[in-house]
Amino acid sequence: MKKVRWGVIGAGGIADRRTLPGMMLSEEAELIAVMEINEEFAEKLRVKYGAKRAYTDHKALLADPEVDVVYIASPVNCHKEQAIDAARAKKDILLEKPICLDIADGEEVLKVCEEEGVKIATGFLMRFHAINAKIREIIQSGQIGQLVSCRAQFSCWYPDIPGAWRQIRALSGGGALMDMGVHCIDLIQYITGSKAKKVASFSKTHTFSYEVEDQASLMMELENGAVAYVESNFNIPDAVPSKLEFYGTAGSIVAVGTLSQEEGGTIEVIAADSSLGYDAQQTRNEVKKIDVEVEFGNMYTKELDSFGRSHRDGAPIEVPAADAIQAQKVIQAAYKSMEDGKFIEL
Ligand SMILES: NC(=O)c1ccc[n+]([C@@H]2O[C@H](COP(=O)([O-])OP(=O)(O)OC[C@H]3O[C@@H](n4cnc5c(N)ncnc54)[C@H](O)[C@@H]3O)[C@@H](O)[C@H]2O)c1
Repeated sequence: MKKVRWGVIGAGGIADRRTLPGMMLSEEAELIAVMEINEEFAEKLRVKYGAKRAYTDHKALLADPEVDVVYIASPVNCHKEQAIDAARAKKDILLEKPICLDIADGEEVLKVCEEEGVKIATGFLMRFHAINAKIREIIQSGQIGQLVSCRAQFSCWYPDIPGAWRQIRALSGGGALMDMGVHCIDLIQYITGSKAKKVASFSKTHTFSYEVEDQASLMMELENGAVAYVESNFNIPDAVPSKLEFYGTAGSIVAVGTLSQEEGGTIEVIAADSSLGYDAQQTRNEVKKIDVEVEFGNMYTKELDSFGRSHRDGAPIEVPAADAIQAQKVIQAAYKSMEDGKFIEL
């Protein structure tokens, strides 16, 4: 099997913390080059992961003829320029979330990729979590009936850090909603197969003093008629696990800890007979728990191999960048809703 030859732009953040360790576990990926802005750091990463070359300029990495595919994991304000340069250099692209600072920039990136015939995917790695993938199967099989509502809660602890790019709107595009909420929005739309059509949101900087929101609550009406809630926070401790909940006319699914950088967590599926008539006693002893078995792996390895196969074998792109534009539309509608105090139609 021909290995997919990767170059990594912005190799020192999440790439070093998670994605490159995930790449090292892959039998299908080969790391050719890393790029970081500081030369010493770039060289340190090159040695750490056994890459052939280290660069301090993304254009130099893009000119490397051995690099077939690039993973861009730089701060969000760099995504547009670097993705467009990668497309012009005819490299297929795995671009970290959120796609760009705004919809217009994201659409420009997609347009250039189309012009250049380049494939582009987004880093919505939560889709590769075995439990999240299983939830999608269960929902789409109709096992919990008609979907009524769902909720995703994803948080971390992110106090004031002077100069941190995520805390500066011009560099991040927004706060907890852009950074954490985007995963929730994408997962809900992906799992349910239904897009948001109406959005309302409350967000604010409640605990810290940076300019972007440290908490965001969002309500969406989905095309299938279900209601979805998203809560994304920078002001809840890391130790508090995420929650993903789906409620239908024939049962429910609750997953704890499945929005995470490590595969793990739990799932509880409850099936109930929706053919019964009205019961004034509201008896709850008909509840049947369904056993769900999954095999955990490394989400980053799965994410890289998935896009690697799209590049090498022409396999369908599992996380098309168009889905990131859709998530960005929901985010921008949410920010508008906060400003206007109204529901926003998409
Ligand atoms: N999928 C995930 O699990 C996940 C997790 C965290 C972050 N992210 C995404 O990854 C991206 C980076 O976030 P992070 O947490 O790694 O940030 P970070 O600040 O920890 O790391 C960013 C890295 O990019 C480097 N950098 C700065 N300017 C650059 C430039 N012009 N060109 C190339 N590199 C540059 C920095 O030196 C740093 O090493 C963001 O889009 C973020 O949303 C994804």
